Amino acid sequence: MASLSFLSSYLILLFASFGVLAKGQLDPCFYDKVCPQALPTIKSIVEDAIKQEARMGASLLRLHFHDCFVNGCDGSILLDDTPTFTGEKNAAPNMNSVRGFEVIDRIKSAVDSVCGGYVVSCADIVAVAARDSVVALGGPSYKVQLGRRDARTASQAAANNSIPAPTFDFSRLLSNFESHGLSMQDLVLLSGAHTLGFARCTTFRDRLYNESCTLDASLASSLKSSCPLQSGVGDNNLSPLDSTPAKFDTVYYDWLLQRKGLLHSDQQLYKGDGSGSDGLVKYYSQNAGAFWEDFGSAMLRMGALSPLTGSDGEIRMNCRTVN
Ligand code: HEM
Ligand SMILES: *[C@@H]1O[C@H](CO)[C@@H](O)[C@H](O)[C@H]1NC(C)=O
Ligand SMILES: *[C@@H]1O[C@H](CO)[C@@H](O)[C@H](O)[C@H]1NC(C)=O
Repeated sequence: MASLSFLSSYLILLFASFGVLAKGQLDPCFYDKVCPQALPTIKSIVEDAIKQEARMGASLLRLHFHDCFVNGCDGSILLDDTPTFTGEKNAAPNMNSVRGFEVIDRIKSAVDSVCGGYVVSCADIVAVAARDSVVALGGPSYKVQLGRRDARTASQAAANNSIPAPTFDFSRLLSNFESHGLSMQDLVLLSGAHTLGFARCTTFRDRLYNESCTLDASLASSLKSSCPLQSGVGDNNLSPLDSTPAKFDTVYYDWLLQRKGLLHSDQQLYKGDGSGSDGLVKYYSQNAGAFWEDFGSAMLRMGALSPLTGSDGEIRMNCRTVN
């Protein structure tokens, strides 16, 4: 009994000396004292996963986006459905689409082991894995803000409603981003993540057969063979979002200038009539340095969406279930 109460006051002191942030505040040095090995451990597993499959970097980056846009960056997307719990994995934007959960599991157990306990949240792991993916594929580094805690809930309805769809026109894309406190510039910058990775035929089929005026003819004809008109045929066939899907570069923006945006939503960012975000797309296609710099700050703004901090939420023991 005595030793138990000693232990608990020791723990209280310990927790008072680190790891407590003002509500809503994150800190890039959050794990420096508690577990200095946490970040290098995440990085090495991310690098390893990307060495095995370059696309995994894209998938991990997207996972952070789909986490943050649904009630904040709180690891809610990682929770598995059970007979009594409906999470976000089978929401329309995520089902048969988001990937990387096994890599997050691998990171979580390595981090818990190197830290000697449950000190790093799943939400922070996703945020750091996204940055490390960008870096591993040739993109800019930035200091990730840390100290997020994990949600004890998830919302399939919010996932259906809060993540923008590839069918959206410019005005809906912009109002979706604004509803998250993000700007038109953030929309253009964060969509620059489409410099990495792939999309399934079902997400861009309409663009091939119904938008011939805004899609480059040679790209259209080369895509049609793996993405036939008939719905249900080849739905899951993949095409790269730009010509260099494993390289973080500005080719995505170049593609938009050439009317080669794969998704309807991509091409909405550049219509070629000077409206909307045309100017920004042109600017970033010509200024890789500015894209590098500004992408990092946009990722920080996305990563700061309504985090759980302090005593809210929990540090999950298993990213797929609440404690
Ligand atoms: C602006 C609104 C956006 C829309 C409408 C959108 C839509 C999509 C769609 C439909 C796909 C293909 C999914 C599939 O094939 O199942 C995709 C892939 C991807 N998205 Fe987005 N996205 C948007 C913004 C973002 C943002 C902000 C990020 C990250 C910061 C991002 C990162 C990615 C990545 C990296 C991929 C490739 C994933 C992979 O290969 O596994 N997207 N996106
Ligand atoms: C979310 O969308 C999916 C797929 O369209 C649908 O089956 C599900 O019922 C929706 N969930 C909620 C809670 O609205
Ligand atoms: C084709 O595009 C037009 C306008 O761009 C739209 O109104 C129509 O619903 C689309 N049809 C299909 C089958 O996607």
